[in-house]
Amino acid sequence: MSNRLNAPNDLRAFWMPFTANRQFKKEPRLFVGAKDMYYTTHDGRQVLDGTAGLWCVNAGHCRPKITEAIREQAGELDYAPAFQLGHPKAFELANRLVDIAPEGLNHVLYTNSGSESVETALKVALAYHRVKGNGSRFRLIGRERGYHGVNFGGISVGGIVSNRKMFGTLLTGVDHMPHTHQPGKNSFTRGEPEHGGDIATELERIVTLHDASTVAAVIVEPVAGSTGVLIPPKGYLQKLREICTKHGILLIFDEVITGFGRLGAPFAAQYYDVKPDMITAAKGLTNGVIPMGAVFVTSEIHDAFMNGPEHMIEFFHGYTYSGNPIASAAALATLDTYKEEGLLTRAAELSDYWADALHSLKDCPNVIDIRNTGLIGAIELDPIAGEPTKRAFTAFLKAYESGLLIRTTGDIIALSPPLIIEKHHIDELFGKLRTILQNNI
Ligand SMILES: Cc1ncc(COP(=O)(O)O)c(C=O)c1O
Repeated sequence: MSNRLNAPNDLRAFWMPFTANRQFKKEPRLFVGAKDMYYTTHDGRQVLDGTAGLWCVNAGHCRPKITEAIREQAGELDYAPAFQLGHPKAFELANRLVDIAPEGLNHVLYTNSGSESVETALKVALAYHRVKGNGSRFRLIGRERGYHGVNFGGISVGGIVSNRKMFGTLLTGVDHMPHTHQPGKNSFTRGEPEHGGDIATELERIVTLHDASTVAAVIVEPVAGSTGVLIPPKGYLQKLREICTKHGILLIFDEVITGFGRLGAPFAAQYYDVKPDMITAAKGLTNGVIPMGAVFVTSEIHDAFMNGPEHMIEFFHGYTYSGNPIASAAALATLDTYKEEGLLTRAAELSDYWADALHSLKDCPNVIDIRNTGLIGAIELDPIAGEPTKRAFTAFLKAYESGLLIRTTGDIIALSPPLIIEKHHIDELFGKLRTILQNNI
């Protein structure tokens, strides 16, 4: 039997990622264009982007400078081998990235996605301890409800059950801290919750259990995004830092969504004034336009590898597309756009207006919690008895119909608009959401 389909736009062949494929293919939702804050759908409607695509289009859509940089680079140098050779833009970009990173994170490894950034950081952590003569430090500690992408290292340290349960034994030597969500105590908090900072001391208990001499690294999202937006309680990240420092454990911040201005500073590490030993990034690095990720490491980590004969490769890791010329050009143009428009700090200016509008939905039916930080917001809905996730998914479908893109995870609506958003867009977004929620979905 032939595989040939009847029409070029037949939807059957593409097994879509993290999608209810059968539902989608009955009622497809396709975007065919985008500009600034809006998508255009296949049926010609405008949809306000309340999620920056997938937390990545921080400068808004189809920004001319980025488009032009890609066009030019594709015609000038399409590809250069990433191993034992280079091209100027990858170096220029690394310098520009280090300039905006927290003090001391002076070196960058490139990847092609957030998932690969996480794998890379975990491997750097293990190898770092080994080159320092501490090969017994092999354990990795993540957190319940954490999301670190979908590769084996990431799902092992991650804590979202449905992302883990199908995939066997995962990495060994991994443990998890408890998550920080305390619904009753912290409901409807604006910004950092009062309660839960002391949950960080659970790390001390885990380290004691395994002995610090076996622990390589702790990885957390400063703000847990994909699980439904969990904001770190006051003092929590500081305490994690203290415990890691005390025991010689590397602290990795997974900033794949918080990086590049989401909170009102270039990175969450600066926003919360806590310095990790590594930062993983992706998404906003190229404004989502072209796959690219990065791992920032301290000089101490980098320098530990720069030993042995000079003709030897120092770290046996890398990707064919690490620092790809077109991705590098896109990232440089993205950084220019962020700088010219002040986007890496814009969330700080808008966050009060954003928070007021978000929390004004408190009186809507079935809303059991609202939380926010920077230009991130979450509205937690009461699940329908026996049908978890359905209420939020219905809200997502109704929003799409009414010209608004939201994201849902479980029964939580997560919002993270492009950082170019204006107040009138914020009004439009929450006006539409109010209408949907008031209709008792
Ligand atoms: C914190 C975090 N880490 C890693 C990832 C994985 O990124 P990617 O989908 O680019 O592999 C994500 C994606 O949402 C993320 O939010």
